[in-house]
Amino acid sequence: NIGAERFLPAEISLPALREAAAHCEGCDLYRAATQTVFGEGVPGARFMLVGEQPGDQEDREGAPFVGPAGRVLDRALEEAGIEREAVYVTNAVKHFKYEPRGKRRIHQKPTVGEINACRPWLEAEMRLVDPEVTVVLGATAARALLGPEFRVTRHRGEPVPRREGAYYVATIHPSAILRAPDRDEAYSGFLADLKVAAGLP
Ligand code: URA
Ligand code: SF4
Repeated sequence: NIGAERFLPAEISLPALREAAAHCEGCDLYRAATQTVFGEGVPGARFMLVGEQPGDQEDREGAPFVGPAGRVLDRALEEAGIEREAVYVTNAVKHFKYEPRGKRRIHQKPTVGEINACRPWLEAEMRLVDPEVTVVLGATAARALLGPEFRVTRHRGEPVPRREGAYYVATIHPSAILRAPDRDEAYSGFLADLKVAAGLP
């Protein structure tokens, strides 16, 4: 993993970043994936949501959270009173990592090396969007933004200061709700964490 740093554009704007990220070869994940899935949303967004990596459908469509996890997320955002227009959505890792199994492509967790390789894109997005509230979705995003010591299970739903007037709020990944033995319970917890994020000053 040589890292994404050397692929960053000289001009730092969201459109320039997106264009440059389309050609990133900072780790091996670009090889098997269809395309880079960059973040989407307005630069002045109050909320930034950070997931793990694009899934199968996101990889095909080139947009974050448009598959099953995205549907859970959309529903919860609406119930928490967060408008999609006020949100910038992205992932810690910008290429889909999978293992082919017959005709299916099975999601695989990105390694620490891949998370670190991809972090320059996420950091650049954070600087440009500079959201008041960053919702950290699951352990991979937490590792990228809050470091290896942070435990989502222990500190979910707790605002963590990022700078004056800006916070992180970590919660579970929406995909975890789909896999949970008790989906309703998992969803309620997720919604409660999003409501904390929505209610921050
Ligand atoms: N899971 C993620 O973490 N991100 C997506 O964009 C889709 C599913
Ligand atoms: Fe570059 Fe990130 Fe894709 Fe790796 S996953 S090739 S670092 S954009």
